[in-house]
Amino acid sequence: MRFVVEQMRAEHIPAITAIDRAVYPIPWPAHSYRSELHNRQAYYIVVCRVDADAHVEPPAEVGAGTRDESGGLFSRLTRLLRPGTALTPAEEVELRRVVGYAGLWMMVNEAHITTIAVAPEYQGRGLGELLLISLIDKAIELGALYVTLEVRVSNHVAQNLYRKYTFQQTGLRKRYYSDNGEDAYIMTTEALDSAHFQQVLAANRAALLERLARDE
Ligand SMILES: CC(C)(COP(=O)(O)OP(=O)(O)OC[C@H]1O[C@@H](n2cnc3c(N)ncnc32)[C@H](O)[C@@H]1OP(=O)(O)O)[C@@H](O)C(=O)NCCC(=O)NCCS
Repeated sequence: MRFVVEQMRAEHIPAITAIDRAVYPIPWPAHSYRSELHNRQAYYIVVCRVDADAHVEPPAEVGAGTRDESGGLFSRLTRLLRPGTALTPAEEVELRRVVGYAGLWMMVNEAHITTIAVAPEYQGRGLGELLLISLIDKAIELGALYVTLEVRVSNHVAQNLYRKYTFQQTGLRKRYYSDNGEDAYIMTTEALDSAHFQQVLAANRAALLERLARDE
């Protein structure tokens, strides 16, 4: 399987909200994502599974000069499959299935991760890490000194992922989550420009790329 990371667009939102409902006790409504796309402090990405074998044979009875009796479907598929043809955003989404997403806000010199999630059936294959590295890269590009976030004290999977990228507990927000009154740890990276952080990032990136290439 092949995956690509790209910037979030409105066409991705239905798939994102479906994943949100599957993984979060308090999912965001679609309008929150729509307004985030207009937030100039925000940067959101998706990871999509690219179906390289997304190949659809035209129906035998529909050929050159034949009337398209498939309600326009055939001409649409022909455009989808013709190399170099510009696709509409909706068509692109059709060929690239959103399987995860993440976002950050730039707040002065800190990048604050607002969300990061992978669809349950795609978890455990490196995609959460791929999203996190992509956000860290963006944070560095935007001049952030640190990356920070909140995480449920019970969310050990996410905490493990963050620790792998030098995040450590730097605070506690009591009763942060309204569904069950759970506390949140505030976790923050080492300085992004420190030699140790850069070393960790480079080593993890190389290992992840190797893993994703192996699984392709
Ligand atoms: C947290 C989440 C994004 C991780 O994504 P993922 O694609 O499953 O994780 P990855 O396969 O990229 O794993 C990266 C690291 O996470 C940790 N991790 C992943 N699965 C784990 C598990 N089952 N148990 C313990 N640690 C785990 C490990 O540190 C792993 O690194 P490793 O492979 O070197 O051990 C995903 O589990 C998720 O969407 N959870 C629900 C939403 C959520 O809780 N988001 C975080 C909000 S703060």
